[in-house]
Amino acid sequence: MKAAVYNSYGPPHVVKLADLDVPVPKPSEMLIKVEATTVNRTDTGFRSAEYVVSRLFSGIIRPKFPVLGNEFAGYVVKAGAEVKEFKEGDRVFGYNDASFGAHAEYITVGENDAVALIPDNLSYREAAPLTEGAHYALCDIRAAKVRPGQDVLVYGATGAIGSAAVQLLRYFGAGVTAVCHTKHVGLVASLGADKVIDYVNEDFTATEQRFDFIFDAVGKSSFGQCKRILKPKGIYVSTEPGKNGENIYLAILKKFSGGKRVIFPIPSITRHDVIFLGELAKKGIFKPLIDRQYRLDEIVEAHRYVETGQKTGNVVILP
Ligand SMILES: NC(=O)c1ccc[n+]([C@@H]2O[C@H](COP(=O)([O-])OP(=O)(O)OC[C@H]3O[C@@H](n4cnc5c(N)ncnc54)[C@H](OP(=O)(O)O)[C@@H]3O)[C@@H](O)[C@H]2O)c1
Repeated sequence: MKAAVYNSYGPPHVVKLADLDVPVPKPSEMLIKVEATTVNRTDTGFRSAEYVVSRLFSGIIRPKFPVLGNEFAGYVVKAGAEVKEFKEGDRVFGYNDASFGAHAEYITVGENDAVALIPDNLSYREAAPLTEGAHYALCDIRAAKVRPGQDVLVYGATGAIGSAAVQLLRYFGAGVTAVCHTKHVGLVASLGADKVIDYVNEDFTATEQRFDFIFDAVGKSSFGQCKRILKPKGIYVSTEPGKNGENIYLAILKKFSGGKRVIFPIPSITRHDVIFLGELAKKGIFKPLIDRQYRLDEIVEAHRYVETGQKTGNVVILP
C-alpha cells in the first residue's frame, strides 16, 4: 500500500512516500481503508520533535511508528473474529495517537479504541477532522468545569482547537468572547461566538469584561497577561507549556490557591468522546473548519503549511 513514512525526526521533507505491506488486523481489530485523514499540529510536532519530550512517546532516537496520521475516516475492509460492533463495509472515523498510521491507504484499529460510525449525513472529508482539535478543546473545557452562563474567552479562535472550542462552549451554554485576526472576524462570529475581538485593532487584555475561563488555544499569551481579566476564581489554560514551562509549574503551584489559577490537563480521548463528537456533527452543532486539502502524494506540502501555525481550522488529506 502507499504510505507517507518518516524514519528520522526533522523538517517536512523527512516524510517520503513508500510502498508498505497492508497491515494485518489482530482478532480484536479492524482493517480500515483510509478515505480521508488530516495533517495536524500533533503530526508536525511528533515529526519535528521540536519538544524533546514528545520522543518519550514517539521513540528516543528514531520514530517507533514510521507512519504519522492520527485522524482517520474510511470503511471497514476486514473485521477480526472478536470484533462485535462493527462489520465489513461500515463507515468509521476516529483518532489514534498511540500508534498513528492514517497517512496510508490502510490502518488497523481496535474495536474498543477511539472509533465510531460516521453519521450518514457526513462525508469522509467532513468526518476526518472531527477529533483532534475537538478532543483537546473538550479536555480543557471539562477540566475547567465550564457551566452554562459562564463567561469564557477563547484566544486563537480559528485554529483547529480554537474553532472547536468556540462551537463546543456554545453548546455547553457558555457566553463566548473569541479573539482572532481582522480577516477572520466574520468566520469566528459564524461559529457562534457572542462577541469577537479583533486583536489587530484591540488589545483583548484591556477589555473591561471579566472571565470565568480563558482558553488560549494557540499558546501565544501568558497567565501574567491574562490575570487582570479573570474573575476572582477564574481559570487560565493554554495549549502550550509557556515560557520555561511556566504553565506546568503554575498549574501545580496554584492548584490549592483558591484564587485565579492555571490548569494544564493531560489530553485523552475515548470511544465515547468520538461518538459524542459524531452526534454533534450529525446535528450540525459542531462542524470542523476545513482550510485546505491535499492528496497523499502532496503530504510534504501539507506538513509545511500546517507548521506555519497559520492554518484556519484543519488540513485534510485525500487519497
Ligand atoms: N505538540 C503537540 O503535539 C500539539 C498538538 C496539537 C496542538 N498543539 C498546540 O496547540 C495549539 C493550537 O493548535 P491548532 O492546530 O489548533 O492551531 P493552528 O490551527 O495551527 O492555529 C492556527 C491559527 O492560530 C492563529 N494564530 C497564529 N498566530 C497567532 C498569534 N500570534 N496570535 C493569535 N492567534 C494566532 C491564526 O489565526 P488568526 O489568523 O486569526 O490569528 C491561525 O488561524 C498550537 O500551539 C499547537 O502547537 C500541540
